[in-house]
Amino acid sequence: MLICLHKTCIFTSRILKMEKVITINFETIASYNDLSQIEKTLFDKARAVRENAYAPYSNFFVGCALLLENGEIITGSNQENAAYPSGLCAERTAIFWTSANYPNETIKKIFVIGGPKDVLSSTPIPPCGGCRQAILEYEAKQKDVIEIYFASPNGEIIKTKSVRDLLPFSFDGSFL
Ligand code: THU
Repeated sequence: MLICLHKTCIFTSRILKMEKVITINFETIASYNDLSQIEKTLFDKARAVRENAYAPYSNFFVGCALLLENGEIITGSNQENAAYPSGLCAERTAIFWTSANYPNETIKKIFVIGGPKDVLSSTPIPPCGGCRQAILEYEAKQKDVIEIYFASPNGEIIKTKSVRDLLPFSFDGSFL
């Protein structure tokens, strides 16, 4: 007899299909006032550097602040281009600069704040798929997780302990 503990099982004479569930972990932080001191500093720097976004095409401004193990904070903002794919997100601008200049330094946290320019939005803006993939690469490079926080200039903040929570079934160098 077959006993199935998963959600939905379809048995045929020769093939068994199973629906499975992946759980991701994340934390919600109600507002800026509930952040720790270092988290507040990262929020402030991400929000400030967001003003430097060059985003004339989308008018969507994103700022990012990375905390390094040595205590330094590196920031970046999105940089667009008339040839759209030549632009780059805030997260990758900051991460690539960090790896180029501090190749042996561990990134501990990434704080991302995004939203339409001049709008006090309260919807947390998650990193795009390409940035998640880039963050995954640097977790592998530094052999340590990177905590991700994302928010908008106002309202709730979402935190994950690793990009793997944002990127199930991820592709990495282990397949190559
Ligand atoms: N953007 C980021 O900077 N980070 C993300 O994770 C999502 C999107 C930027 C890219 C583009 O300049 C604008 O937001 C609209 O997509």
